[in-house]
Amino acid sequence: MTEWWKKAVVYQIYPRSFMDSDGDGIGDIQGIIRKLDYLAELGVDVLWLSPVYDSPNDDNGYDIRDYQKIMQEFGTMDDFERMLEGVHERGMRLVMDLVVNHTSDEHNWFTQRPDYYIWKDQPNNWRSFFSGSAWQFDEEREQYYLHLFSKKQPDLNWENEELRNEVYKMMRWWLDKGVDGFRMDVINMISKDQDFPDGIDGDGTPHFFNGPRVHEFLQEMNEKVLSDYDIVTVGEMPGAATEDAKLYTGPDRRELNMIFTFEHMNLDQGPSGKWELQPLRLTDLKENLEKWQVELFEKGWNSLYWNNHDQPRIVSRFGNDAQYRKQSAKMLATCLHFLQGTPYIYQGEELGMTNVAFSSIDEYRDIETLNMYKEKRAQGIPHEELMKSIHAKGRDNARTPMQWDDSLNAGFTKGDPWISVNPNYPEINAEKRHEADSVFGYYQKLIAFRKELEVITKGNFKLLHREDEEIFAYTRRAADEQLTVYCNFSETPRELPLPTGQVLIGNYPPQENQGVMKLRPYEALCFYEGHQKIGE
Ligand code: NOJ
Repeated sequence: MTEWWKKAVVYQIYPRSFMDSDGDGIGDIQGIIRKLDYLAELGVDVLWLSPVYDSPNDDNGYDIRDYQKIMQEFGTMDDFERMLEGVHERGMRLVMDLVVNHTSDEHNWFTQRPDYYIWKDQPNNWRSFFSGSAWQFDEEREQYYLHLFSKKQPDLNWENEELRNEVYKMMRWWLDKGVDGFRMDVINMISKDQDFPDGIDGDGTPHFFNGPRVHEFLQEMNEKVLSDYDIVTVGEMPGAATEDAKLYTGPDRRELNMIFTFEHMNLDQGPSGKWELQPLRLTDLKENLEKWQVELFEKGWNSLYWNNHDQPRIVSRFGNDAQYRKQSAKMLATCLHFLQGTPYIYQGEELGMTNVAFSSIDEYRDIETLNMYKEKRAQGIPHEELMKSIHAKGRDNARTPMQWDDSLNAGFTKGDPWISVNPNYPEINAEKRHEADSVFGYYQKLIAFRKELEVITKGNFKLLHREDEEIFAYTRRAADEQLTVYCNFSETPRELPLPTGQVLIGNYPPQENQGVMKLRPYEALCFYEGHQKIGE
């Protein structure tokens, strides 16, 4: 099978926040259909849809009640099929979210097949990712069930072969319908240490991140399902290091095509986790990305991302979303898109959408944020302090509605949106993509280069200026081609020796150089040497 996904760019849609076609304030599949031309215009190859399955929405669809039914708010199976056709007609592919570490407690398995879940007479001390204990007492059974996420998301028991076969059957059903792959939710958590030992301070992760049988399960899934289809697979894997990634993605291992690492996303947090804010040191980011680039080279495959529905907006996080919003959005895109791997763009990233700062907790919707706020307020932590963390790291930063135009509610809905629109929509919206210096136009170019220049897919990676806290620079080299990428992550103008080659792309108007390279605030410049004629 061809490895087409090595040259692909993926675009993630969070359907609830993308486009509402019927005025109920919630995005839907007909809304996505209306925007397929927009996505084709951007030039992306694959669309990944966050879950669209029937769900009581305790965690916005990541709690699935029926894997083979479409969520009512989003539409019908017929709508889904029209959308799939529309995607394929435009030469794109569609990837579904596969959430099989857990289901909703409203899935009929939970009452009919309790052996598909994990029950104990006595809980251990593991804490849920969404605050509180990871165990919930069930009055009827008089036992506790495990839920690593919300108590309405009981974990599935992958030790049970019948359950595994049910999951594989369901996967084949979607693939036979014509979907082109899966993004697998927290898939490196499906195998738990069967002794269920307590964790240090309630941290159970060493006992279920990359657990004892995970590779066996993924190889089985590959053999029974994945290997029969020409698809792409990406596993979401908190706590996976490069050593693990090589095992999950090594071509002869027959597991997955690529994984999402969390390492680079955890560099701006303290030891207690994501809510403990800590400034990013650029040298840490460089060292980390270098490690993934070098270690997976010819041994596995990287996925490249700055954003998704769980992460704050990158321009607000590692860039400057005020004075240099457009420049820093483009600089960050440059830095990521010239790396080796498959890039992922999250809806609105291509417009340079920013974080939001609601002042009242009542405006927030995300269960992770709300549970954390409640727990910490009860411990006496002041509102202001918590809001600071929520503004910087809350998942709702990514979930405010897509900003289509400057009409009411950013053109997302004619009704009341389920979560408020970011008030900056008159300034930042998709209509602005027609302006000459738009972030969108810049993404289009980056996507097009990936199709033209082999070195982006194949070249090796070498880090330059290792100790510099402001400049992220690297080369990519393959056969007779070389790319040299310079990114200024700061407001400070810098002068550096001029690299060889011809300017391929930059985020500022060209300027005269007298043998030196002058980088302006958040400037990105990429140079190319090789046989390809640029700009023809
Ligand atoms: C990871 C998903 O990306 C996140 O949104 C969700 O809350 C958890 N997994 C649980 O499914």
